[in-house]
Amino acid sequence: MRIGVLTSGGDAPGMNAVLHSVVRAGIGRGHEVLGIQEGYKGLLAGNAKPLSQQDADGISRYGGTMLGSARSKVFPTDEGQAQAKAQIKKLGLDALLVIGGNGSLTGAHKIAQDGDLLVVGLPASIDNDIGHCGLAIGVDTAVNTIVEACDRISDTAKAHHRAFIVEVMGRSCGYLAMRSGIASEADAILFAERNRPEEEVVAHLREVMQRSFAEKRDKKRVLIIKAEGVKVPTQTLVDRLQEHLDEDAPGVDIRATILGHVVRGGAPSAMDRVIGQRLGLAALFAFEAGLSDVMLGWETPDTVGEATKDPSIRATKLDEMLQETEELLNGKSPVTKARIQLLETVENLLSL
Ligand code: F6P
Repeated sequence: MRIGVLTSGGDAPGMNAVLHSVVRAGIGRGHEVLGIQEGYKGLLAGNAKPLSQQDADGISRYGGTMLGSARSKVFPTDEGQAQAKAQIKKLGLDALLVIGGNGSLTGAHKIAQDGDLLVVGLPASIDNDIGHCGLAIGVDTAVNTIVEACDRISDTAKAHHRAFIVEVMGRSCGYLAMRSGIASEADAILFAERNRPEEEVVAHLREVMQRSFAEKRDKKRVLIIKAEGVKVPTQTLVDRLQEHLDEDAPGVDIRATILGHVVRGGAPSAMDRVIGQRLGLAALFAFEAGLSDVMLGWETPDTVGEATKDPSIRATKLDEMLQETEELLNGKSPVTKARIQLLETVENLLSL
């Protein structure tokens, strides 16, 4: 088979590990692997070249993606779809592997509709906002990066008796904030899915400040992790808390840190390398079995999709996973409800 592979949307640590296994095992199993540069943008331009074993050697340990990535505005349009179809034909692809997040997998589903070639999607997004997938490629590394940054911030916060609001990526999904907040012993975790009005958020944070810095506690720092999806801007929260500092926590300072793209880069954790490589191999097996229009997910619930040879990986139809993604983000999914419930349960314990 001639297999095209592309990485699209926001890069995620572990994408290179997928490429490693697809190229290594793909060539080893008699396939030709074409690396399409810069996601759908490169596909539209027919910008692809065969990858060799040598190209894939030792790349799992690098962040980013050796193929480059992009967010294409043209691809979803009718014109873009026609152009993609023509390029797929010209490149002579029998199969296409799309590694990316929600938007990229929506694109994969569109291409699969024509039935001209086999299309498999792999979930890669630090946001962990992809339906029917326990852990997307890149999430584990991102959580570790945030925790490391928060540990550093905690050191300096303690030294100066300060509170910090640390904003972390995640677009509309609070998973990164939730997970890293627990691991870094945050005193409060703010995530958009809860949809709290500004006044309520401020009131909660004031309580956290009062309780944490009460004289009898002798606490040296407060760490508040805020997901980027929370509508109130981080600096607004800092300003609002600042107004009451003399009353709530005399002598304490408050600062904001927005981690931004720092969270998306860096060497993938061992976990992300393993997830990436195993998903890459599972994608090859899927193509060989003639599967198409599916996503292979790591730790997909066993009530969903089909089992694969890998016990940690299940194949879900792309349309089903896109539907679940929508519900994950609008709060209707049981997964989101469980996440919110869990944090509500511990909310008042965090700052004890
Ligand atoms: O989807 C991954 C992500 O890093 C989000 O967390 C963030 O909101 C967005 O991408 C940033 O996108 P860009 O790199 O295009 O600014």
